[in-house]
Amino acid sequence: MPSKKRILFVDDEQKVLDGLRRLLRSMRSEWEMIFASGGEEALQILKEQSCDVIVSDLRMPGMSGDQLLAKVRRRYPGIVRLVLSGQADKESILKCVGPIHQFMQKPCDEETLKTTISRALEMGDLFADESLKSIVTELESLPSLPSHQQELMAQFQMPEVSPKLIGESIGRDLAMTAKILQLVNSAFFGLRRHVGSPAEAVLLLGMDTVQSLVTTMQVFSQIAPDEIRGFSQDKLLLHSAAVATVTKKIALSEGLTHEEAEVACLAGLLHDVGKLVYATNRPEQYAVAIAMARSEQIHIEEAERCVIGASHGEIGAYLLTLWAFESPIVDAALYHHSPNRHGGSGFSILTAVHVADAIVRHNSTYNHTDKLNVDYEYLDRIGLVDRLSVWQEACSHAA
Ligand SMILES: [Fe+2]
Ligand SMILES: [Fe+2]
Repeated sequence: MPSKKRILFVDDEQKVLDGLRRLLRSMRSEWEMIFASGGEEALQILKEQSCDVIVSDLRMPGMSGDQLLAKVRRRYPGIVRLVLSGQADKESILKCVGPIHQFMQKPCDEETLKTTISRALEMGDLFADESLKSIVTELESLPSLPSHQQELMAQFQMPEVSPKLIGESIGRDLAMTAKILQLVNSAFFGLRRHVGSPAEAVLLLGMDTVQSLVTTMQVFSQIAPDEIRGFSQDKLLLHSAAVATVTKKIALSEGLTHEEAEVACLAGLLHDVGKLVYATNRPEQYAVAIAMARSEQIHIEEAERCVIGASHGEIGAYLLTLWAFESPIVDAALYHHSPNRHGGSGFSILTAVHVADAIVRHNSTYNHTDKLNVDYEYLDRIGLVDRLSVWQEACSHAA
């Protein structure tokens, strides 16, 4: 039997802890739940035993939730950090958007709590080695290109600036897109649906909040990845943006609604986010993996598994899960190089991203006569091999 996962709940109000204990009674066979009435007590517990997830209140006397979670991040980077709190102002949310993976708002129903915690735990099980998880969990933010950040800051000063313009700028940078959507989709903003486009996020959050967020990100993510032979952040961004455009075209040609096509576009933009995680957090090992893929002519995911222990797809999917992205976006990151491992039948966002990735790579090589590098067995299984030429035609001008 697999060992129980350990979840630590922290709240200064005893009745909240009692309520959580009652609410999650049905999970007792799977989770060992520990309750602490404050930050100091929580840190003491963590000294004595390891935990998989910590769920903390934000406003507590003494040590606040964001202070506690920042300490947890530094001392125990492998723990998933969630907040369960009452109303909080934008200011305090922005303060903790770095150290925190997800927000839940009180009162929180049983289903939301169980699903949020379970999803983070399940995705973590992908990794055989605990240290692999912390490649993602220790991360506060991904690096944006300084030139993008400067461009954005300049746009905020323009008299004719609009949420659409800012949204489009953000949409060209996957680190900023990921962060802003993590924030807008956090429960604190009380939205009942998932926001899928940066422009909509800007509209909902307001320009001043977005500006503060970009400034905050500038502080903790200015460090561009060290020089890694064979990796360029610039090229990755161009590739990601092109895959996003092509994915959207394919989605629309298959009759997806405009809203679904926006989600597909986002999945395309974020499919290789794991590469950015590696470039930021494991640059030396990532450089070895890139060199190995080249010299031994093996797939980059195979080389990454060999050198680091996990593929960029797995690492990216874990990050997107922790940051509360929807399943189709997570699945697209996880399976974009091996779609047949995903059991789904018929067309999906994953299909679009997998094909778009191949089309963009094909269009950017000199030898256009080569066969498209897609998984034909997968396309055959879902009955869509015939659509390939249609998609290629629809996307012939995007690279
Ligand atoms: Fe990839
Ligand atoms: Fe890619």
